[in-house]
Amino acid sequence: MKDQPDASAVYKPSDDFVANAHVDAGAYAKMYAASVADPDAFWAEHGQRIDWIQPFTKVKNTNFEFGKVDIKWFEDGTLNVSANCIDRHMITRANQTAIIWEPDDPKTPALHITYAKLLEETSRMANVLKSVGVKKGDRVVIYLPMIPEAAYAMLACARIGAIHSIVFAGFSPDALANRINDCDAKVVITADYAPRGGKKTPLKDNTDKALLHCSDRVKCLVVKHTGDQIHWIADRDIDLRQQMDWAKPYCPYVEMGAEDPLFILYTSGSTGKPKGVVHTSGGYLVYASMTQQLTFDYHDGDVFWCTADVGWVTGHSYIIYGPLANGATTLMFEGVPTFPDAGRFWEVCAKHKVSQFYTAPTAIRSLMGLGPEWVEKHDLSSLKVLGSVGEPINPEAWNWYNTHVGKGTRPIVDTFWQTETGGHMLTPLPGAIPAKPGSATLPFFGVKPVVLDPATAKVHDEVETEGVLCIADSWPGQMRTLWGDHERFQEAYFAQYKGYYFTGDGCRRDADGYYWITGRVDDVINVSGHRMGTAEVESALVAHEKVAEAAVVGYPHDIKGQGIYAYVTLMKGVEPSDALRKELEAFVRQEIGPIAKPDLIQWAPGLPKTRSGKIMRRILRKIAENDFGSLGDTSTLADPSVVDDLIENRMNRH
Ligand code: WTA
Repeated sequence: MKDQPDASAVYKPSDDFVANAHVDAGAYAKMYAASVADPDAFWAEHGQRIDWIQPFTKVKNTNFEFGKVDIKWFEDGTLNVSANCIDRHMITRANQTAIIWEPDDPKTPALHITYAKLLEETSRMANVLKSVGVKKGDRVVIYLPMIPEAAYAMLACARIGAIHSIVFAGFSPDALANRINDCDAKVVITADYAPRGGKKTPLKDNTDKALLHCSDRVKCLVVKHTGDQIHWIADRDIDLRQQMDWAKPYCPYVEMGAEDPLFILYTSGSTGKPKGVVHTSGGYLVYASMTQQLTFDYHDGDVFWCTADVGWVTGHSYIIYGPLANGATTLMFEGVPTFPDAGRFWEVCAKHKVSQFYTAPTAIRSLMGLGPEWVEKHDLSSLKVLGSVGEPINPEAWNWYNTHVGKGTRPIVDTFWQTETGGHMLTPLPGAIPAKPGSATLPFFGVKPVVLDPATAKVHDEVETEGVLCIADSWPGQMRTLWGDHERFQEAYFAQYKGYYFTGDGCRRDADGYYWITGRVDDVINVSGHRMGTAEVESALVAHEKVAEAAVVGYPHDIKGQGIYAYVTLMKGVEPSDALRKELEAFVRQEIGPIAKPDLIQWAPGLPKTRSGKIMRRILRKIAENDFGSLGDTSTLADPSVVDDLIENRMNRH
């Protein structure tokens, strides 16, 4: 790995911080031991942190055995997630701000939405959903900008028992259509435009294009957010704000089983088709709320800001469900870190007196390059804890974050987790676990990490070791299945290392037992903190009429963490050109979205294949990394000479 961090650097929280923290070192050790020794007892206690309608009597009922994988938590309890995030706070917090909304344009006033207002708006939206026929168990796709309506929509679905599936507003019409069809959604909720960084994405127009490929029965609820002109289809499109104004301001919540699905979230895997990760109600909420409170050491009165988009799991767990279940004040930001200037994050922190700030290394790296003066300009004295998520944080970025944003005194929590895990898996608790730059440190309560040998699948018992990261037992926030495909769920996560949940990540464990994630070991790459399947980009490329074959790999990228490197073999007779390169880039943007656009495209007359026709990705990765001195054994290739051509014409020279 490049930039192997100095494992000896250890950063301890101050005595004052520890004195105030929910969990200190002693408590962590005791609670962690209890959580893995007797998960039933531990989670029976912590399951009480949310309100149940019918209390559970069973706690854990889980099986990781391949072929019989089955995960249930609190299975006979009933609850409503929306009631837990709103109604239960009404007695003590009705007038407290639940959501601070900071718009893209700083000249537009921010909104402070109280819990009382959140109840009203969520109810109104729930009543509109009911009026268009949405019932318990129905799927609702949400394709919205980062506006309060996105929060209302999620909570409205939860209120009436509908299952939401959010599609990130950066995805293309094709990607949206695939997701609407895969979960057979009844309704899609969108907006006219999504303003970001002063530019506008035409969401309604994208939705119109997507719905051409979907059933005529799908209704389209539209938030007129920017007010710009849009195309309107009378029998299908509904003005959501107008209907909400006319709807009743209260909607009762329904009683849901702990294991009833709360949401589906599509994520990338190692095949071309995105996976519909299913999270259920009880266990997910217990885990999201507990991790939000303890990982960030959230206290009443704090302002919590997670800069993710609600289109990703981080937004689900740490903008909406975790904070709101805890009665927190959560900040929702519509914009980007560099608009109108590179000080925007810090301006927003100062303006709203943010206490906990949670972002991705890619954002830190891009701001780092623009100079510390953008940070120094703003008063960051309200900050208490900083967080990092989505990819390994390199030591330079960690140090910059610590020095300029944290002023050397705020704990940094490097949280390792996944769409599949619902909440944090490995992370320091800031008052309990000293940080080492680049390490996600130790497991959260109930999480049993194991390091396995990738070849033999043997568990490495020694403390200092390296291998693939698996988890030995279930935790309440774990995904339950893939939508409509339990077989694929088992195949993807439980087949390779029997008896374990396989994360897809490699890791190292140091002498102190700290975990260091070394990145994905499968065909998933991490581009600007966005997870991407190389197979998805490949299938987009080969859908182009001039492309015969394509292979996509990641390569180290200074800002994005990983960049997308595509090897493309053209159809016979097609000449490579810069114009064609641009055409392919545009084509991928259209098929998946801007986040999937290849950074480098290399014309490959042939791809290195084994005699049985399997593409040797290991070789392609090495060439993309500009590290072709160690290609390993190429003698099994059908035509070893293709490798010379690929090296000769490589795109990433440094
Ligand atoms: C990577 C995002 C190192 C990892 C919450 C994982 C990380 C994938 C970290 C999941 C971290 C996430 N350090 N790597 N702190 N956090 N990852 O599903 O490769 O979008 O498997 O969930 O991101 O990405 P996902």
